[in-house]
Amino acid sequence: MLASAVVILALVAVLLLVPDAVRVYATNMMGALRAPGEPAFVAGHRGDRADAPENTMPAFQAAFASRLEFVETDVQLTLDGVPVLMHDETVDRTTDGTGAVAELTLEQIRALDAGSWYAPEFAGTRVPLFDEFLDALAGNRQKALVELKGFWTPAGVRTVLDAIYLRGVQNRVVFASFNLTTVAHLADTAPAIPRVIIKRDLPRDPVGLANYYDAIAIITTPTSLEHDPEAVTRMHEAGLGVLVYTLNSEKRWSEALAYGVDGIITDKPSKLDGWIAATAPGT
Ligand code: G3P
Ligand code: CA
Repeated sequence: MLASAVVILALVAVLLLVPDAVRVYATNMMGALRAPGEPAFVAGHRGDRADAPENTMPAFQAAFASRLEFVETDVQLTLDGVPVLMHDETVDRTTDGTGAVAELTLEQIRALDAGSWYAPEFAGTRVPLFDEFLDALAGNRQKALVELKGFWTPAGVRTVLDAIYLRGVQNRVVFASFNLTTVAHLADTAPAIPRVIIKRDLPRDPVGLANYYDAIAIITTPTSLEHDPEAVTRMHEAGLGVLVYTLNSEKRWSEALAYGVDGIITDKPSKLDGWIAATAPGT
């Protein structure tokens, strides 16, 4: 009788402790949540696309060589199920090829030139594998904001997850997605890796949305914050972070800091980093 009571108590203790063991809070990944005017962290959008073609290894190397805290990228699966980095659904804008990423094999995508459209000196640059990005991440100190583009199945999530754990960088990765089903699959399949929801327009109850999906933060737009200026305070009171995208001017940066956002995603990461160092104390 006593033995079964002990077993039951032990089971209850395990059930109570396990969720906490995998719980990651916004502050773990972003530092203390910001008060209005405090410096936000900088995330290089698609690497440092002011310096090199977006979502290519030169853009990531530029970002990793800088003082940035986060490097953002977009992941999609090729027809044969290999994670590669590209923002658009098709390869048309950023390579010399045509067609949807999901309808091209890895071999076809790797044959494309992803640099000439940007500048002649990047001719021959390839569409990177997610593995290459992770190798570079492993050799640097930054954190990665990894956006899974579109809808992802649990099996797809497991592919990127295995690559992350293989390199031991799981404590420096935050997943992001616009797609709420993908966010749910991330929560189920990769509970120990924090996730953020991207919402161009904030819902009426962003805290409820983030908590429902067990997300640590929401990424939104300045326009959305203009419509609901108290949203940042409500998120922070709930222990949740707020990031804004994609802000590229001093005017926008200073408006964002005034709201007390925790992170700014920008196409001009070095400029923003320098601007924050010069204008906002504490960096
Ligand atoms: O992380 C936010 C931002 O990257 C989402 O917009 O279209 O540039 O992927 P997009
Ligand atoms: Ca993105």
